[in-house]
Amino acid sequence: MSSLRIISNPLYNKAMAVIISFSNHKGGVGKTTSTVNVGVALAKKLGKKVLLIDLDPQANLTQSLPVPNTEFNSYGALIGKHALIPVRVDNNLYVIPSNLDLSGAEVELSAETGREFILRELLEPVAKNFDFILIDTPPSLGLLTINAFAASNSVFIPLQSEYLALQGLAKLTEIVSKIQKRLNKNLELGGVFITQYDHRKILNREVAETIEKHLGSKVMKTKIRENVALAEAPSVHRDIFDYNASSNGAKDYLSLAKEIAEIYK
Ligand SMILES: Nc1ncnc2c1ncn2[C@@H]1O[C@H](COP(=O)(O)OP(=O)(O)OP(=O)(O)O)[C@@H](O)[C@H]1O
Ligand SMILES: [Mg+2]
Repeated sequence: MSSLRIISNPLYNKAMAVIISFSNHKGGVGKTTSTVNVGVALAKKLGKKVLLIDLDPQANLTQSLPVPNTEFNSYGALIGKHALIPVRVDNNLYVIPSNLDLSGAEVELSAETGREFILRELLEPVAKNFDFILIDTPPSLGLLTINAFAASNSVFIPLQSEYLALQGLAKLTEIVSKIQKRLNKNLELGGVFITQYDHRKILNREVAETIEKHLGSKVMKTKIRENVALAEAPSVHRDIFDYNASSNGAKDYLSLAKEIAEIYK
């Protein structure tokens, strides 16, 4: 952790989007739910122009929103079949969808020169059109995640407050450090935040305290509470604000989006 640079008062180039990866190689911690709902909060509630990139072959982000059918997706762009073509989902909200084809990309691109920088290069002509670009990454630290980190300004890490949460975090921050040194000196650890939190569970409270003790100012104030509406909304291709605007899920994700917007204002 100590080698990670901390965001203090960053002077971001306001003409370009802030590019954020949501990442944790542990599965099921809330990467996709957070990318979707932080993105929608930024777009619909805070008036930002937002692009969501689905970089996971599971395509859960794509399935979580009413994305129109399109022949353009993250796989086609990465293999050079076409440019990165954002699909409009709502006012201010655009998506680069994914599908299962993307599962072949890591092998197909493994011998490509500059394979870590393909997404960064694809984003160059697109980034100026958005305020925020949020990337949903797969539960692994392979070439897709490395492409996301190489293209990003910052990484936000969702954590469940369970035992072993911190163990995985050490590995992830080590990778972020290596990417900073070798591939992208602009990359920063934006923050970590706790998801699926239930304050009635002693384990959740204890682990949350440990996370706060270890990571201090890097821990976002907002904890995303466990909320069944967050689990239900994707099944009908809707975000939490559309599905249940008064739910704790909607309140928590709006609060997290405001914290993130505040960092980059
Ligand atoms: N705060 C929450 N309360 C209740 N359910 C949640 C919450 N956050 C996420 N879920 C549910 O937990 C499951 C895992 O969440 P999600 O898909 O966002 O995790 P992920 O990290 O993207 O998973 P993967 O590693 O497979 O990509 C999903 O079914 C999701 O709907
Ligand atoms: Mg996911």
